[in-house]
Amino acid sequence: MGTAEIALDALRHEAAHCTACELYKSATQTVFGEGPPAAWLMLVGEQPGDKEDIAGRPFVGPAGRVLDTALERAGIDRGEVYITSAVKHFRFEQRGNRRLHKTPGVTHIRACRPWLDGELRAVRPAAVATLGAVAGKALLGPRFRITDARGKVLDWEGHQLVPTVHPSAILRGPPETRDEALDALVSDLRVVAGLRR
Ligand code: URA
Repeated sequence: MGTAEIALDALRHEAAHCTACELYKSATQTVFGEGPPAAWLMLVGEQPGDKEDIAGRPFVGPAGRVLDTALERAGIDRGEVYITSAVKHFRFEQRGNRRLHKTPGVTHIRACRPWLDGELRAVRPAAVATLGAVAGKALLGPRFRITDARGKVLDWEGHQLVPTVHPSAILRGPPETRDEALDALVSDLRVVAGLRR
């Protein structure tokens, strides 16, 4: 085992018992990042969804399928990427027997930040892509605006960082805009692919 793998394993075990905010009480489990410990690229999403909460793995639900398509079209193999989320417990509102996604708040993002920092320190990816406003704000601060920043390569704490949209935004948009929105995500991810080491 390399040092990055050892560090990630230790973090994953510790994070499994995280009680730093209240989300652990209603979520099934902590959904930690996964991927090669020495990945050149880290993707940072928002928080696990319903499917991820149950499976214990990031991006395995509908948003994950959009992400897989976009990565493939951009020439990035999911297997070469470390994928994680800014918040590692599912925040939701119960409506009957459905669990509806609820955007995590600043306190949840802050409470979870040490895990993300630990992942960044262990993996030391050359490139980071933030998916959506929550991930962008988590790393770049509250003034981050996705419309201004998406697709641009920013120098951020020793990494090259490209913000883009969250794949679930494509699913939430009107059906007639989906192709165009997916093309735009692919185009941002092609910028990311150009940073491959
Ligand atoms: N959205 C995220 O940001 N992360 C997941 O794991 C799933 C959906």
